[in-house]
Amino acid sequence: MVPVAVVGAGYVGLVTAACLSELGHRVTCIEVDETKVIALGAGDLPIHEPGLRELVWKNARDGHLQFTGDYERTRYAESVFIAVPTPSGDDGSADLSYVLQAMDSLVPHVQPGTIIVIKSTVPVGTGDGIARLQSVLNARIEVVSNPEFLRQGTAVHDFLHPDRVVIGAESAEAVERVARIYASLEAPIIAVDRRSAELAKYTANALLATRISFMNEISHIAAAVNADIDDVARIVGMDRRIGPAFLRSGLGWGGSCFPKDVLALSSAASSHGCYTPILQAVYEVNQLQGKHAAELLLEAISGIDDPIVAILGLAFKPNTDDVRGSPALGIAQQLVEEGIIVRAHDPFALVNAGLVLPDVEYREDAYSALDGADAVLLATEWEEYYDLDWILVRESMRGKTVVDGRNALNGVLLNELGFLYRSFGRAAQTNGNGSAPHAGTIDASTLGGTMQTNGNGAAPYEAAFGSPPGVSEAVAE
Ligand SMILES: NC(=O)c1ccc[n+]([C@@H]2O[C@H](COP(=O)([O-])OP(=O)(O)OC[C@H]3O[C@@H](n4cnc5c(N)ncnc54)[C@H](O)[C@@H]3O)[C@@H](O)[C@H]2O)c1
Repeated sequence: MVPVAVVGAGYVGLVTAACLSELGHRVTCIEVDETKVIALGAGDLPIHEPGLRELVWKNARDGHLQFTGDYERTRYAESVFIAVPTPSGDDGSADLSYVLQAMDSLVPHVQPGTIIVIKSTVPVGTGDGIARLQSVLNARIEVVSNPEFLRQGTAVHDFLHPDRVVIGAESAEAVERVARIYASLEAPIIAVDRRSAELAKYTANALLATRISFMNEISHIAAAVNADIDDVARIVGMDRRIGPAFLRSGLGWGGSCFPKDVLALSSAASSHGCYTPILQAVYEVNQLQGKHAAELLLEAISGIDDPIVAILGLAFKPNTDDVRGSPALGIAQQLVEEGIIVRAHDPFALVNAGLVLPDVEYREDAYSALDGADAVLLATEWEEYYDLDWILVRESMRGKTVVDGRNALNGVLLNELGFLYRSFGRAAQTNGNGSAPHAGTIDASTLGGTMQTNGNGAAPYEAAFGSPPGVSEAVAE
């Protein structure tokens, strides 16, 4: 058991605090927002994340996890994890003011020899810079970079089952002390220098964003030449050098991390004299996806009086209530500005979306959002949308256009039901203007080979993406 403190009770801080207490450590979580501290003390979580509530309740009840706004409590911690925001500044660079503010609050309280573990995503050199601060040198504090790779929506699982734990430190003793905190996890510990740890985090996010933007670019080519982007993704994803994750085309990536991290990496590169045309293109292609969806919707409602567009899903990905950087909100805002009535549903993100975009009609029931709509956009592939009774929906909608912003619905079925299904690079037949797809129609036995729809006989998504369509890989952090 190691006494630790976690600064920040947001998506990363709260998950870190809950999971470290679950691993057997005594955790104090310091949060500057008093309302959150009071709510957490009463067992109310400020965020939705599967499995988190149970961990917080259990460990708080057992006395292993406490919440406070009092930095004095960091005096008992051997290590203090920093998990405060690093948003985009006006010029795209990472705004480090929250991290520096947290350091200022911490330093007067912590004991000499305490390790400050930076979990926030910070530009290369931040850890070195903090370690050189006179106040930090005087307090004899060690600074370690320990970037976090969890994905919202599966954050608890990801924290407890990481692919690797990265510890960027300047001394073997600091590596050993932080590694001890993670000792009960079955994960390789990757000990590197602070700068490499910091750069690895940005590289991971930028690379994932790049894969999605690249496939989105290919999806436009697929649409133009009447090829099928799902088949293309499946085929290239089966190449072991490439792998199947993050190849799904659609509205693109969002969230609180990819957009700001791509910009921050590009900005930091530029300040070091490095040119980043790939990162800039990755960002631009992503912005085009939302515009493309809006165009499809505007086309569908053209000429209709008092048009109504329904949006299914507002969170930037399923299983979270986080709407930061959500493509759905950008599209909704554009439509509202054009005088279109937008009705939206989301199982968990209505409150957060309402704070950002008050002029949308929010509905607590998906059918109510769809009732009377001229077109619908599936923006977030929550599992419940796969179970919608689309026959009922067809009867209740005024129009018939379904824009599948996640290439997740069964386009052939929707066309059969009388919808006009629009996707991002799926084959023309799926979109309702061709014959049945070839995939799956060839009898392997007549060919004397092992040809199958997807190479292993399972349903295409299971084979190609390792998950049902309800599980998003398209957006993570
Ligand atoms: N969200 C993710 O999925 C994710 C994944 C990996 C890394 N990260 C990185 O982790 C960091 C935190 O992200 P987040 O999404 O958890 O942010 P968040 O906004 O959800 O939470 C941050 C919390 O820190 C609190 N806070 C701010 N300043 C504070 C201070 N001085 N003292 C105490 N509390 C303070 C805020 O009130 C808030 O509750 C960012 O750098 C982000 O890039 C995020």
